Amino acid sequence: MCGIVGGVTDKNITPLLLEGLNRLEYRGYDSSGLIVLSQKNSFDRARSVGKVSNLEKNLKLRNKEINGNIGIAHTRWATHGEPSSRNAHPHISKNTVSVVHNGIIENYIELKNSQIRQGYEFKSETDTEVIAHSIDLEMNSCTSLVESVQKAVKSLQGSYGIGVISSKYPDQIIAARKGSPLLIGIGENGNYIASDQMALLSTTKKFIYLEEGDIAEVKLDKVTIYDLNGKIVNRPAQESKLKAGQANKGNFDHFMQKEIFEQPQAIRDTLESRITNNSVISSSFGHQADEIFRSITQIQIVACGTSYNAGLVAKYWMEDIAKIPCNVEIASEYRYRRPIILDQTLFIALSQSGETADTLEALKIAKKLNNTLKSLCITNSPESSLTRLSDLTFLTHAGPEIGVASTKAFTTQLVSLALLLCAIGKLKGSISKMQESEIVSGLKKLPGLINETLLQEKQIMHLAKRFKNNSSALFLGRGTMHAIAMEGALKLKEISYIHAEAYPAGELKHGPIALIDKNMPVIAIAPNDELLEKLKSNLQEVKSRGSQMIVFEDESSKVQSMDAMEVIQITSNLGRITAPIIFTIPLQLLSYHVALEKGTDVDKPRNLAKSVTVE
Ligand code: AGP
Repeated sequence: MCGIVGGVTDKNITPLLLEGLNRLEYRGYDSSGLIVLSQKNSFDRARSVGKVSNLEKNLKLRNKEINGNIGIAHTRWATHGEPSSRNAHPHISKNTVSVVHNGIIENYIELKNSQIRQGYEFKSETDTEVIAHSIDLEMNSCTSLVESVQKAVKSLQGSYGIGVISSKYPDQIIAARKGSPLLIGIGENGNYIASDQMALLSTTKKFIYLEEGDIAEVKLDKVTIYDLNGKIVNRPAQESKLKAGQANKGNFDHFMQKEIFEQPQAIRDTLESRITNNSVISSSFGHQADEIFRSITQIQIVACGTSYNAGLVAKYWMEDIAKIPCNVEIASEYRYRRPIILDQTLFIALSQSGETADTLEALKIAKKLNNTLKSLCITNSPESSLTRLSDLTFLTHAGPEIGVASTKAFTTQLVSLALLLCAIGKLKGSISKMQESEIVSGLKKLPGLINETLLQEKQIMHLAKRFKNNSSALFLGRGTMHAIAMEGALKLKEISYIHAEAYPAGELKHGPIALIDKNMPVIAIAPNDELLEKLKSNLQEVKSRGSQMIVFEDESSKVQSMDAMEVIQITSNLGRITAPIIFTIPLQLLSYHVALEKGTDVDKPRNLAKSVTVE
């Protein structure tokens, strides 16, 4: 999930490349680099380890500016080869071809061995370098750069979005994609390529989305696109509605903190125009929504990470309240296991970014396996690949989420899934008007309830101080709270680097209880629901084994506080739909403050990227 940006313009391209890289940093920040064809048609390249700001510093230290009208740039999330300058893109072959790549070349070892035999020298440990050499090799027998790329990509197995420039063809960039996103930006003073329109929004709003197997020849005043079979095709440009505005932290120290506090507004925005008189407007899921929802007999949700956890909550809701069978699966498993997809299944792809490679692939495979399948994507990204592939789209309207750890995207996904629950249940006759009205009025109370819950921050800060020296933690919950426990554990792992696991509280005695001692803190979620008494017994089992405990409870849950047990009251009388959303908030705050105590990079934790566009 690296980020690519490039362009052919009538002015110096370097500032545009740097701006694009900054906007693409959410795709990876292990290293970054750019290359420009100078006036003398020679390559001028700069690469740095770490964030784009390091590349900017590196450029400032040079005594000569990198200047030219054509260039490509890359921000990397390492797959093959450690994050280092020599593994950073762009890569060069024989001073003639330079390539930036997002994706994975699966047969790179085989290609590398053959290229070494043909005299090519490898300067990096990446899989990308073979692409540069393959193109250089083809240039010996081809009459254009586009033809060389067309031939070279035939030997590649795996996924790629690539940008290619050559000192022999100094008026063009070649862009090619298979399995990784890539688009063309059409500007007034030039034409551009990028992994995501965000990179180019301050330059153009006109985009052509390349399709699988497309190869584009991008020149100053002309873009020519060839399809999979090498035929010239017309791919119409679309006008983007997105705004270029750079997200900022306002008065907050981190994007994650800001995004936690934005949740009341984000939920208001998710609900806006989707409900009327305590009833869900089902057509907000799309024109065909009513027809599709009436016809389905089961639901398959597929997602990754935090989005998967949101899907798990929805499974409880869908089966218990709307009485419709619902399965949830991790996309990277689903896509490879040849699932049986019954007719009348609604496939739901849940994804903040709408670009997660595993989720996209799972949807494509499901469509191939059953061509009657109807699909809905719930995403925060209006013009993402997922929206283009799905029959129905529902936007979460959370606003840009910059922190790598997902917060407001999760709670707005839950709100969206609750609206979906009502829409499906109502159309299938399994949810009464009264039930729907109760659910919707509960959703409308969420912004106020979240604001109340955020007032617990001070108390949670104190807990975080004590927590920071732990090396592991167990999160417990039952029912939907198991999914919330999973989300709490994921948050703690990703930003504080503390090992954390989540278990359904009733499962503890089947093994994990062996881990419990005074060094294994347990965080439990105790809403006042029908499983409360069972959970209280589980807490006793843990307590009697000496664990330090933190219990987040509903005011009416009345969990008895004991030695080495901190009970924090959240709010009272939460319903089945509102409780999982509200109990998420203290867990987000806990992981945020533990990370602050530990001094980790909260918004850009190590080894991660905001959008995972490789498998
Ligand atoms: C959550 O905090 C993550 N960083 C990660 O698990 C994320 O939810 C996952 O990669 C899925 O992303 P998506 O929602 O954009 O598909």
